[in-house]
Amino acid sequence: MPQPKVLVTRAIPENGLELLRIHTNVTVNQEDRPMTRSELLEAVHDVQGVIGLLTDQIDAEFFDAAPELTGYANYAVGYDNIDVPEATRRGIPVSNTPDVLTQATAELAWALLFAAARRVVETDTVMRSGLWPGWGPLQYLGADVSGRTLGIVGAGRIGTAMAMMSRGFGMRVLYLESPSGQRNQTLDEHLNAECVSFDQLLAQSDFVSLHCPLTPATRHLFDMEAFQRMKRTAILVNTARGPVINEDDLVKALQEHLIAGAGLDVYENEPQIAHGLAALSNAVLLPHVGSATKNTREAMAELAVRNLLAMLRGATPPTCLNPEVFK
Ligand code: DGY
Repeated sequence: MPQPKVLVTRAIPENGLELLRIHTNVTVNQEDRPMTRSELLEAVHDVQGVIGLLTDQIDAEFFDAAPELTGYANYAVGYDNIDVPEATRRGIPVSNTPDVLTQATAELAWALLFAAARRVVETDTVMRSGLWPGWGPLQYLGADVSGRTLGIVGAGRIGTAMAMMSRGFGMRVLYLESPSGQRNQTLDEHLNAECVSFDQLLAQSDFVSLHCPLTPATRHLFDMEAFQRMKRTAILVNTARGPVINEDDLVKALQEHLIAGAGLDVYENEPQIAHGLAALSNAVLLPHVGSATKNTREAMAELAVRNLLAMLRGATPPTCLNPEVFK
């Protein structure tokens, strides 16, 4: 029997590709960039499986272009790039890569929080410029972290891991009530965390860390109105999805010191960033590297491949987004 044809839309770590090559006839995009829309639609016309990225739009047009598709595996935990209801309507299973990147992403949120609180990037630049005049009592004063209040927006896997890491710093932890009203037992039990309204979280947090998915309800959740309700000393960290923040509003809020700082790993229009953001010394900017450790990216590759191989066999993949298609 011929092996199923599979497209990988951009090279992923070799451990995943090796596994795929054993079981499938794989084509990997050879360019070190996402495929253009027309390249993608052309390349999927005769494939049974695709491993794609958060930059690939997986929608009705994509499914129309891939009439033989039996499964799509996202190489990301976030799946706002996939029209899951449309996939389900067509009986096509789709999957993501949860769990394996939880710790790495939570750790990066802390890196951003500390970098913004203690002005790490700004002062690194001073050192490299040769302009440091020597130690001074009033230089480069930042914010304390220990004992302060951490507000978590999106207390799912990554938000929970990030909050749990605050134990070393003796912080008060708030988390945003979920739309279903369900409480986070881990945070309640281990941190005595408080489940609060959006207003309470904004008004009381010294640090706000975003871990929610991008949905119509969370798009631009952080806009000028929200910044006005935050502490002027607050620091906002985003390792979730860029459009959760209205980035133009954030630039204004940072310029006008409505909030003290921001640590961003994700942006509204990646790879572009909002006009004015790069000039702000109170913003720390990283290039969407939340999951970018060698082990994590390899674990994501293995999980994405295992998901796809299961779908090609007609079995429910380990981390399926629409298991109802198998009923
Ligand atoms: C994800 O997985 O959603 C991240 O944004 C990239 O690893």
